Amino acid sequence: MRKTHSISSQYLHGTDPEEQERLTELNRLLNDRYMRELDLRGGERILEVGSGLAQLARAMARTAGPQGYVLGIERSFEQIAEARRQAEAEGEDHLVELRQGDVLDMPLLEPEWESFDVAHARYILEHVPDPLTVVRAMVRAVRPGGRIILADDDHDLMHLHPEPPGFAALWQAFMRSFENLGNDPYVGRRLVSLLYQAGAQPVRNTVVFLGSCSGDPHFETLTGILVTILQKAREAMVGGGLIDADGFETAVEAVQAWGRRPDAGFWYSLNLAEGRKEER
Ligand SMILES: C[S@@+](CC[C@H](N)C(=O)[O-])C[C@H]1O[C@@H](n2cnc3c(N)ncnc32)[C@H](O)[C@@H]1O
Repeated sequence: MRKTHSISSQYLHGTDPEEQERLTELNRLLNDRYMRELDLRGGERILEVGSGLAQLARAMARTAGPQGYVLGIERSFEQIAEARRQAEAEGEDHLVELRQGDVLDMPLLEPEWESFDVAHARYILEHVPDPLTVVRAMVRAVRPGGRIILADDDHDLMHLHPEPPGFAALWQAFMRSFENLGNDPYVGRRLVSLLYQAGAQPVRNTVVFLGSCSGDPHFETLTGILVTILQKAREAMVGGGLIDADGFETAVEAVQAWGRRPDAGFWYSLNLAEGRKEER
């Protein structure tokens, strides 16, 4: 019997088409480089936790090959519908299985527990109030010797230079908006500890660089992703009393202006940690 969780989570970014486009852009930007970090060998059974639009799940399935299997868990029906639409558009509709459910109450069937070679979660632990429950389920889901890979933000690592006026207050408000939902904007620094607490042996701790600068072909895309994230969180920030409307608008305009500077540097990275489940 599955345990039912009384508290689920609130997802700050939403699932409207503009947000789905942002997530798609981010996946385009990141996934080739990110897949190298996963170091899949082919043939793995993979549990993808919080699979979103499943672009990464499909990349994993391509690498795992016909002997492999990828199961994505995603709560939002809108995200699953868009994931299926994108997969179909690219002729990959049978590559991954998507299952609707809450990662805080992992919807696995009895024989699926302890059956995966890899359990992976990216950009999901920052959106749940109890990341340890998720990581515990991931450890339970893999076989003895299996890998658990966590990647998530530590929002304190964001630096724009030269810093746009008002950005520090805006970014503080953005981080506080996670906390207002009961979530942790710094969860990226806790990944090793979460693995350990969940009973896995931590074996790797690293970052995937997600910065850029003016002159880099990806700079405009990355700046656009940042502005979209901020605009989508406007209600949570302004409505939540974390910054006033003028401060919000002025700072977002300053970020847009900074994006046109010839000397803009964007420093950010995604924390990634890996653990192993003990062999019996
Ligand atoms: C930022 S997206 C990341 C998607 C994907 N992991 C990636 O890296 O592209 C987070 C996803 O988690 C989903 N989500 C949020 N809370 C969830 C929960 N409690 N259970 C399952 N999915 C959840 C959201 O709907 C969203 O699609």
